[in-house]
Amino acid sequence: MGSRGIVRWARIVLGVSGLVWAGAGFAGSLPGGLQGAVARGARIFNDDTFGSRVRPVPDAASAFADMGRAGGAGPQFMTCAACHIHGGLTRGRLPDGRRIASLRNAAAVFPRYSAKSHRIVTLEDQIRHCVKDGIVGRPPAFGGRTMADLVSYLHSIAAGQRVAIGGPFH
Ligand code: HEC
Repeated sequence: MGSRGIVRWARIVLGVSGLVWAGAGFAGSLPGGLQGAVARGARIFNDDTFGSRVRPVPDAASAFADMGRAGGAGPQFMTCAACHIHGGLTRGRLPDGRRIASLRNAAAVFPRYSAKSHRIVTLEDQIRHCVKDGIVGRPPAFGGRTMADLVSYLHSIAAGQRVAIGGPFH
């Protein structure tokens, strides 16, 4: 192989590994500001109790069982992660053990139509609903930084999912 051939070969190898990298580590290829928002959103998802004073039930057969253990290292009060376990990547569990969908494609299927309340429910509406009724805390403001960080996080875990407005959750 001449030197030109080697250069061409190296280009192909770099090109292919670049594609693999882009697919595997999407968050890693985001511009700095957005990457920061995704990272903050992940922390909020796992640790923020939104001022809640509700303690997860420690003996429930659910994700709650693991909270507040390990010498009190985990959050003592409710968080998103109490119900949406593994960062929302797998199916979640409620305190009574009931399973709920994962949040894998949530950002790709909102907004939805609620027949019950006759209105369009956006991703932001759903987040506020979960903080108010699930965490029993103060919902983050529309347009605020906490909301932007959480929305960025939910979109990052939905990267590559099929956009299907109103579609089913995974
Ligand atoms: C007490 C349990 C609980 C907590 C805590 C909770 N959620 Fe939920 N979440 C649910 C349930 C149950 C649903 C499914 C339907 C519903 O009630 O709206 C849901 C649905 C969702 C959905 C839509 C996907 C779907 O399957 O309907 C998103 C997005 C979501 N939650 C985000 C969050 C975020 C972000 C937080 C933290 C700010 C959070 N949730 C905290 C119980 C919870």
